Amino acid sequence: MIAIACDHAGIDLKPHVIAVLDELGIPYKDFGTNSHESVDYPVYGARAANAVASGECSMGIIMCGTGVGIGMAASKVHGIRCVNCTDTYSAKMSRLHNNANMLALGARVLGSELAKDIVRIWLMTAFEGERHARRVGMIDRLDRGESLE
Ligand code: RB5
Repeated sequence: MIAIACDHAGIDLKPHVIAVLDELGIPYKDFGTNSHESVDYPVYGARAANAVASGECSMGIIMCGTGVGIGMAASKVHGIRCVNCTDTYSAKMSRLHNNANMLALGARVLGSELAKDIVRIWLMTAFEGERHARRVGMIDRLDRGESLE
């Protein structure tokens, strides 16, 4: 189950993300927003992030104007590693090396076809583990307030 959420600036991208999820046969839960009325992106980033952090959803895809604000908000939730992607290479590497569990996209930055390619490659790429698991473990220690030194 994939958590999806957006603010008013990200809403026009959401149907394209849903189209990719449908194409891949991946179920999703939509945490809003569902209109163009102005809302606060941290609320929606947190709703999707909490669903991923709790295990209700395995991963999340969130959208705002740039992907920046909603991604920042999501990454403040314990256990979330959210990547804001504007290219397919970063999308792939964020899964292979960083085990990103949330993807943030900017509806005012990306064309819909590039956004769909980013979503496809991000969903289809698995974490490589091994030496990268140690480094991701270090990120998680920082998330818990621990020191790496
Ligand atoms: C909303 O105007 C806009 O600030 C928001 O969607 C997002 O781009 C913030 O990072």
